[in-house]
Amino acid sequence: MTVLHSSAPRHFLDIKDLTREELRRILTISARVKAQQEGRRFPLHKDQPLAGRSLGLIMSQPSTRTRVSFEVGMKQLGGAVSILSPSDMQLGRGESIADTARVLSRFLDILVLRTGDDATLRELAHWSSVPVINGLTPVSHPVQILADILTFEEHRGPITGRTVAWIGDGNNVATSLIEAAALLEFNLHLATPEGFDPSEEAIVWARQHGANIITTRDPKEAARNADAVVTDTWVSMGDKDADVRHRTFRPYQVDEALMQHAASDAVFMHCLPAHIGEEVTQDVFEGPHSIVFDEAENRLHSQKGLLLWCLEQNKIPT
Ligand code: CP
Ligand code: NVA
Repeated sequence: MTVLHSSAPRHFLDIKDLTREELRRILTISARVKAQQEGRRFPLHKDQPLAGRSLGLIMSQPSTRTRVSFEVGMKQLGGAVSILSPSDMQLGRGESIADTARVLSRFLDILVLRTGDDATLRELAHWSSVPVINGLTPVSHPVQILADILTFEEHRGPITGRTVAWIGDGNNVATSLIEAAALLEFNLHLATPEGFDPSEEAIVWARQHGANIITTRDPKEAARNADAVVTDTWVSMGDKDADVRHRTFRPYQVDEALMQHAASDAVFMHCLPAHIGEEVTQDVFEGPHSIVFDEAENRLHSQKGLLLWCLEQNKIPT
């Protein structure tokens, strides 16, 4: 049975929409469901809190981790999943977002959208009467940051007061990390080349909310004494200027020499997919600092935590 909301649903569109306690709550639920699943490769949960619930995954752009982690996570929690590609929907033939949202809200309990147009996400959320989750837009990637925080804390303990270095493009993942720095009070050093700065709006918001953020053009300065060194592709989905980017970002490659500036036990993180020899060298990616596959695995656990939190927030009985 689909539950229709009498008031606007609580969406998950950006990290900054959360309170610190809400972000902590999602992470706590994620860690709990991970612990429940640990050791069971094919977990058949005795309790399936999302039984009878349905998730719609609308993927306008390619995805491996986001798509599979939401699909598998929802199924592990007992729910059903519809994977929808706009080209297979009437959306691809011109049906409006408003009508699509209102129809899907009658069938489904939660929607996830990955889109190359941030305004489309906002419009879907406006018209949907069920919670909408941002599965990545060019502006932000909040579900990635849930997994990143969970992973950092598993390896290095509480992130509050620690230092994270972001090296490379001031892109969608960087924006969500900036917002998390404010909520969880970690220091964030961002090294980006001119023309590829992180979102000024996000930085202003984060600083207003107490974040300690340093921006620099120098990757070594950003990496100095960092507890985590984080990077991402030089060319995100939808970027048209690949040649310029490859030239501009070359000095921003994360290599062993750069890792030497970080704390000796620093972790290396990357949301993936990675481009070895571009934003990161093989030795760092495969080396002892790298926790990228734990980070990828945690997409599953944090997606489950988020799905449960969404139902909790929207008072949908489980
Ligand atoms: N990190 C991430 O979002 O991966 P996908 O593009 O494979 O979903
Ligand atoms: N910044 C990348 C992240 C991919 C998960 C992109 O938007 O393509």
